[in-house]
Amino acid sequence: MSRKIDIFDTTLRDGEQSPGASMNAQEKLVITRELLRLNVDVIEAGFPVSSPGDFEAVRAIAAECGDKAVVCGLTRAVEKDIDVCADALKDCARPRIHTGIGVSPQHLQYKFKGMTLDEAIDTGVKAVKHARTYVEDVQFYAEDAGRSSYEDLAKMIQAVVKAGATVVNIPDTTGFSVPWEFGERIKYLMEHVDGIEDVTVAVHCHNDLGMATALTLAGVMNGATQVECTINGLGERAGNTAMEEVVMAISMHEDELDAHTDINPKEFVQASRMVSSITGIMVQPNKAIVGANAFSHSSGIHQDGVIKKRETYEIIDPEDVGASGSNIVLSARSGRAALRARLEELGYQIDDEEQFEKIHEEFLELADRKKEVFDEDLHSLMGEHDRGLDALYTLKSVQISCGQPLTPTATVTLVDADGNEQTASDFGTGPVDALYKAINKIVQAENDLTEFSVLSVTRGIDALGEVTIRITAPDGQVYTGRGSECDITVSSAKAYLNALNRMLRAQGDK
Ligand code: KIV
Ligand code: ZN
Repeated sequence: MSRKIDIFDTTLRDGEQSPGASMNAQEKLVITRELLRLNVDVIEAGFPVSSPGDFEAVRAIAAECGDKAVVCGLTRAVEKDIDVCADALKDCARPRIHTGIGVSPQHLQYKFKGMTLDEAIDTGVKAVKHARTYVEDVQFYAEDAGRSSYEDLAKMIQAVVKAGATVVNIPDTTGFSVPWEFGERIKYLMEHVDGIEDVTVAVHCHNDLGMATALTLAGVMNGATQVECTINGLGERAGNTAMEEVVMAISMHEDELDAHTDINPKEFVQASRMVSSITGIMVQPNKAIVGANAFSHSSGIHQDGVIKKRETYEIIDPEDVGASGSNIVLSARSGRAALRARLEELGYQIDDEEQFEKIHEEFLELADRKKEVFDEDLHSLMGEHDRGLDALYTLKSVQISCGQPLTPTATVTLVDADGNEQTASDFGTGPVDALYKAINKIVQAENDLTEFSVLSVTRGIDALGEVTIRITAPDGQVYTGRGSECDITVSSAKAYLNALNRMLRAQGDK
């Protein structure tokens, strides 16, 4: 039997660090349920000290997981972080505290203002010992390990293994490494750290040079037995190793790597669509495994080959990653039970009957406009429903006149949290510009619109048009907003209001 590689998913922590990818508690639970269907070994649920919202999300995720997965919380090598993390995990069946400190010259000199390596090691050792007073499973990360010297890294890892770390995480935090060197680095640690055979060695790679998956495989080849990854490769800057890529690569090269995972790959496409729909971060069509074109063949020569034998141009059967088959599920004739069952299969649990009735009504309205309601439509519908729940402003009506040679003009009526209605009109260079100016007259919250995109949620002329926007607040924080409707001007208004609501809520919480 080959080595079992643990899959450590950090979509809810490193993934959430992507600008504008912040998720609310309900969205995190929906993703957690999908991660459990994928059968991941460890879920990094958040950074509890960073905000009360993150603290609560870690608690809720731990409750949702029960004993089905290890639930991990991130900390710095700071006592208070560890105390708060331990508190968030106190009812968790399989808790892990993930603590650590920088090891590279760049981190020691600049981030830690001239801290010596020995001081950093001492801080790391104290953090591991402190975390061990709360839980038995303590993971240590040596931040920016990819730019440290082998000797410095081995010295730090040796010290934390002795202090009681059960997992040592070697991150290429800046995505600087190349696979052959990163593999050598792991090999060096395997050969130079006493007792390393008794702990789990993890790799956590970033994609700044487009090599995160290759780096991770090099780590596995040389002794790592835990890989850290995210759905769709979401994460800081260029992102993290994509789970779907690394798992499929391991499965196709099991013999050379002497490795396998316990992941259920049939969930990959569903997981990818879910994360993309929830975060508003789209997947490029040519993305490996889960991109819209990953199994499309366009040239005549390729089509001819695939018709003769699929394997001529396909290394993976699309069915194995959940990329084939129809996911048409519901129509206006589907009853409540069918809707509830499908929503539950997608990870949405609605215990409140009043709320379910509202969702059912919204579903019927949608099903009236569309013949077939796809899973993606249901994600959008649930997103819309969720966004409405904590909105400070909701859209009552919108009217637009535009065309050639008209001057685009918009009139909107918004309802605030106290139920007061306000109407404003403006004109602009296009309908969306006019619309946003009219909304600004009412909401009056300074921001820059930095991204605007429209995507058809499913196929067909009657498809929902999902608008995703990003706005930047004066303090530099980015907020994502989404809206989906058959009419894309209405989607645009809803997306903008959603981003404004998130920004105003966050500013109110500060
Ligand atoms: O990239 C990184 O170094 C991290 C650590 C916190 C593990 O995300
Ligand atoms: Zn990271």
